[in-house]
Amino acid sequence: MKKSPINVCLFPAAGYGTRFLPATKAMPKEMLPILTKPLIQYGVEEAMDAGMNTMAIVTGRGKRAIEDHFDISYELESQIKGTTKEKMLADIRHIIDKCTFSYTRQIEMRGLGHAILTGKTLTNFQPFAVLLADDLCVNNKGVGVLSQMVELYKKYRCSIVAIEEIDPQHTDKYGVIDGDEIAPGIYRVRTMVEKPAPSDAPTNLAIIGRYILTPDIFDILRVTKPGKGGEIQITDALMRQAEQGAVIAYKFQGKRYDCGSIDGYVQATVELYEAEKYK
Ligand code: UTP
Repeated sequence: MKKSPINVCLFPAAGYGTRFLPATKAMPKEMLPILTKPLIQYGVEEAMDAGMNTMAIVTGRGKRAIEDHFDISYELESQIKGTTKEKMLADIRHIIDKCTFSYTRQIEMRGLGHAILTGKTLTNFQPFAVLLADDLCVNNKGVGVLSQMVELYKKYRCSIVAIEEIDPQHTDKYGVIDGDEIAPGIYRVRTMVEKPAPSDAPTNLAIIGRYILTPDIFDILRVTKPGKGGEIQITDALMRQAEQGAVIAYKFQGKRYDCGSIDGYVQATVELYEAEKYK
């Protein structure tokens, strides 16, 4: 495994996934499959490719399937041993062999910032990555988004957020940044707003579900008041770091699918099917 200055990847996965009801009534959204792999496995593979081997998962009630997925299933494995199906478990076995998984529960859904704060004890107080598994990112031309961000972290040694240009009509679904472009596609963030109306948005540069955060974020999150929607927002906490010049926004290489929405989920399924030629 590659050596990386970031070892821990935190997966906030406590949300209810209401847009996928009833599918998510008894099953976590992060376990929805794109083809044969659940969303969270794509996320774990991206983190591993970036040199991380400690997966810290913030779960909630009804999320036990995630823990079972990243564990050995002896009965199943002995059942298919020696058959052609054995290879279908090769990737997940590799993950289980190489990574450590730890879990903590977010008791109340008080927002993404609160979910990250809940994961504090799993991060060893070191800089860490955050990956929202419902944002599925692929980069057929090169390395994954977290790998790209780790390279930037080595240079800037501060918090990094991945951004993309969105349709200006949709700013009210995202955290939106503004800043100074210090290199092509790399911005030192000056301001950030959570889910602004299109008329109030400073730009159309939206934060997607990939972050590298420095551990001082926890002291900030602890005193961050509920913001938009009554939730504790990571964007509000990052704004405090940005005031110190300590947040970089990065237009990543690759494509993101918003698999938290039906449209994005279907699009990802179709395009990965075409790419992988499952036929
Ligand atoms: P979303 O708002 O997209 O997820 O949160 P959701 O609430 O599960 O989905 P819908 O809108 O009801 O369909 C983004 C990410 O933050 C996590 C979610 O699990 C998701 O990965 N999250 C959000 C938490 O872990 N805890 C929270 O309190 C809120």
